[in-house]
Amino acid sequence: MSSRVRSGCAALIAAIAAVAACHDEGTPKPSPSIADLQDPNTCASCHASQVKEWQGSMHAYAAEDPIFLAMQKRAQRETNGQIGTLCAGCHAPIAVREGLTTDGQNLASLPAQKRGVTCYFCHSATDTTDSHNNAITLSDDLVLRGDIRDPKANAFHASTYSTLHDGDDLHASALCGTCHDVVNPAGVPVESSFAEWQKSLFSHDVAGQKLTCQGCHMPGHDAPVAQGGPQRRAHDHTMPAVDVAVIPFAEAESQAAEVQSNLDPALVAKMCVRPPQQGDTVEVTLDNAFVGHNFPSGAAHDRRAWLELVGYQADKIVYQSGVFADGQEISTAKDPSLWLFSDTLYDKDKKVVPFLWQAASQEVVALPFAVTSDPKDPAFYHAKVRTFPVPASADRITMRVRIVAFGPEILGELVKSGDLDPAIAKKVVPLSLGGTTLEWKTALGYKCVP
Ligand code: HEC
Ligand code: HEC
Ligand code: HEC
Ligand code: HEC
Ligand code: HEC
Repeated sequence: MSSRVRSGCAALIAAIAAVAACHDEGTPKPSPSIADLQDPNTCASCHASQVKEWQGSMHAYAAEDPIFLAMQKRAQRETNGQIGTLCAGCHAPIAVREGLTTDGQNLASLPAQKRGVTCYFCHSATDTTDSHNNAITLSDDLVLRGDIRDPKANAFHASTYSTLHDGDDLHASALCGTCHDVVNPAGVPVESSFAEWQKSLFSHDVAGQKLTCQGCHMPGHDAPVAQGGPQRRAHDHTMPAVDVAVIPFAEAESQAAEVQSNLDPALVAKMCVRPPQQGDTVEVTLDNAFVGHNFPSGAAHDRRAWLELVGYQADKIVYQSGVFADGQEISTAKDPSLWLFSDTLYDKDKKVVPFLWQAASQEVVALPFAVTSDPKDPAFYHAKVRTFPVPASADRITMRVRIVAFGPEILGELVKSGDLDPAIAKKVVPLSLGGTTLEWKTALGYKCVP
């Protein structure tokens, strides 16, 4: 596949290059060098909202993330450097492509515009050559690609339309997908958001079903996209999901609020309370109806998502499952009814291992995505159901789904090996999905909520 490139750019670049040649070093340049285009600060005068949104995003955070840095440090040590630029290749792709790092250990000493997933990285992408491990081809033609078919000329950079960036075109998922699919050196697909999406309903080229990564993660609103430009569809660059910064970071508060409002409606939940003679009294249904891939997805071996269910009798707890204090280990907890969604990694001896480079195989336990909109197709019902033995004496039952970016057991490993500051580990706390927060009381009778 290749993106369509509007003709006429070559002439524009030639014109810009001619102007640039007349200017001395040090005077303001009316045309960009690659270094100018790589610096997100140069975009701010014309694309203030995109810059602000991106600055708070996990893409800006990707190489600042202290947990990433700790994990990468341990990966290098454990593999005697064999891991090379694998991690930095996605978390600091410009630095790797320019040969500024061979192991990702010197990222902090590089200029900010070489770290993270930057404007320039996404907007100079022309093509993908594989479905995983960041197989993106970049152009050095100084033309920025986007979803606008008739971009207005501007004094700074050349622009062109590309299907790889157009959230209405299925091709665009490949731009995100090849980074959001990680295959480790042993060939284990340890992060698979793209592969999952490709099997989902949302990858069908059918109106009413089709939703690219951008379609969900970059919602649009009507506004100019450049200072003084015409009314367009402006696409959100905050891209919230699960992860939030655990160090002081731009837009941290609004990003956290975005993450919460993205998670709240993600699942559809139902809790049914039955008379005790019908067996386990509480039946919970969880439906991943609106997520374009598994829940959880991506770094699902780091993530822990689970059901918290509590039964009360006169405000005294008579039953509980999935109740964890912040920082308490989850996947190793003694909780026989725990309903946990998380990937487990194994080494070649089938022993559980915490980190993606150690995995020889994995087990995926997730709420699966929708694959068909046809109610007559047996695959239509993909919700999961579980029952819980809540004593019939309970007069109030509450539930909610919770998710934490890292299992405390993973962070504990990094603290133990001296790679992660325990104060950082403490900052990682679970979130709850508002739409799954349900309550039943005796007064409702034996029935389902909502
Ligand atoms: C193909 C690209 C790619 C490669 C290679 C890659 N990552 Fe990532 N990494 C990602 C993406 C995309 C995410 C976001 C996934 C998600 O949010 O679920 C991520 C997320 C993470 C996170 C979680 C971030 C957070 O704070 O929640 C950590 C930690 C991490 N990666 C470490 C590593 C390490 C260590 C390596 C190398 C051994 C590595 N990654 C290799 C793309 C990559
Ligand atoms: C001098 C103002 C100015 C600066 C500085 C600027 N841009 Fe633009 N950019 C524009 C204008 C004007 C458009 C066209 C908007 C339109 O047609 O609605 C545009 C369009 C774009 C497009 C869309 C292209 C398409 O066809 O879809 C992208 C992507 C883009 N700019 C990225 C950037 C990035 C990244 C930077 C910083 C490296 C940057 N711009 C700096 C003015 C600017
Ligand atoms: C992770 C990749 C990625 C990064 C990083 C990124 N963009 Fe974008 N950007 C896109 C995609 C994809 C679109 C088109 C979305 C669509 O059509 O749904 C887009 C659209 C745009 C547009 C066209 C108007 C619009 O909103 O559709 C502009 C301008 C733009 N981006 C500027 C920037 C600037 C400036 C930065 C850095 C501060 C940046 N982008 C960072 C992927 C990215
Ligand atoms: C160069 C590789 C790369 C590309 C291209 C890329 N991403 Fe990412 N993305 C990452 C990495 C790495 C992270 C995690 C950074 C961290 O937290 O350490 C991430 C994080 C995210 C997150 C936040 C996940 C969470 O758990 O909170 C979302 C959502 C996301 N990306 C969506 C997209 C979309 C949509 C696109 C395409 C428009 C895209 N990404 C393109 C590498 C990439
Ligand atoms: C139909 C809407 C939809 C589509 C399509 C979609 N996503 Fe998501 N995505 C969500 C929602 C909602 C969440 C938050 C719930 C969750 O974490 O799974 C999410 C979460 C994520 C996360 C964080 C996962 C985690 O648990 O850490 C990543 C990474 C991500 N999406 C990347 C992608 C990529 C890449 C694509 C395209 C290949 C994509 N998404 C397509 C709706 C969508």
